[in-house]
Amino acid sequence: MIGKQEVRQKLMANTNAAILGTGRAYPEGILTNADLERMVETSDEWITSRTGIKQRHKASEGEYTSQFAVAAARQAIERARIDPGEVGLIICATVTPDQILPSTGCLIQAELGANRAAAFDIAAACSGFLYGLTLANQLIRSGQTRYALVIGAEILSRYVDYTDRSTCVIFGDGAGAALLGPAEDGRGILATRIYSDGRYAEQLFSPGGGTRIPPTAETLAGGLHYFKMRGNELFKVAVRSMADVSREVLDEAGYQADDVKLFIPHQANQRITDAVAQKLKVDESIVYSNIAMHGNTSSASIPIALDECLEMGKVGEGDLVLLASFGGGVTWGAVLLKW
Ligand code: ACO
Repeated sequence: MIGKQEVRQKLMANTNAAILGTGRAYPEGILTNADLERMVETSDEWITSRTGIKQRHKASEGEYTSQFAVAAARQAIERARIDPGEVGLIICATVTPDQILPSTGCLIQAELGANRAAAFDIAAACSGFLYGLTLANQLIRSGQTRYALVIGAEILSRYVDYTDRSTCVIFGDGAGAALLGPAEDGRGILATRIYSDGRYAEQLFSPGGGTRIPPTAETLAGGLHYFKMRGNELFKVAVRSMADVSREVLDEAGYQADDVKLFIPHQANQRITDAVAQKLKVDESIVYSNIAMHGNTSSASIPIALDECLEMGKVGEGDLVLLASFGGGVTWGAVLLKW
């Protein structure tokens, strides 16, 4: 016998998902460029001109990823006006989980009281949130679940070497969340594309601490758990892949870059954002940037930015919103939505 809920979910099948509510949270602690000037050989002038970053949030001792994920998720659920018990799927995009086992998703599920929602993590670095939106969209379309939470949450500062000036100026901590449900009137997610190319794995990676180089006193002393990055190589791949994948989702949905009302690229570096916007030939007035205040928060950057845009009234009903990302792996992707 098919239950009432199953019938309802089957009827919803093949309906795209829409974002019904968003939220964001970050640690209170802030690390400014002036603070970094006292820690490594750098300057506010270098950081600002090369990255656009002025400050970033930094977790204190004792703070952990799921705390911020839960706070952001609670806002998203509240704004979508649903009950946590109605959430059927929780995807937490993170490369800095609370612990290896269990998933941060499961810890979030318990904290939210989200019934028996399926919960798991995805590690796609800065593209994690768009990977999550892509999966959630398909699971809602298939009728597997009605409401899904997609969260991007990171405490990158735990893996940043604060003696390495080429990485420590870039990364910040935070979380952003989106609650998705079936869309109405042809709105919601119109197209998604996600990709990876593991040949570039060592452009941004943390060599130690896993099964290949297990954590020992020596690996810790040698800083093998810290992020290592080839910034200028990543820069070129980032610009090319974000511009290409953005064009792909626009083509698939039958739109031009001119039609986009709001473009939120992953907040990696202001120069990357400017170069992608230029390649896409979109006006800078529709490109959102918050990198000055948050730095690069990896998977959290797009949902934090989206939540800020909604709060500022930058998105109206029917507006076309383009999200694009690029990150370690390397991974990249884009999602096109009609609000
Ligand atoms: N302060 C002062 N000087 C610095 C600093 C710093 N913080 N960092 C590097 N430099 C120096 C370098 O040592 C180098 O000096 P040299 O010429 O004497 O050798 C010089 O500045 C230029 O270094 P580049 O690495 O070529 O600088 P670039 O202009 O490429 O900027 C940056 C570096 C900001 C890292 C840039 O390449 C970038 O943003 N790349 C993309 C990184 C990125 O997006 N990473 C995240 C991917 S997302 C994810 O998955 C988390």
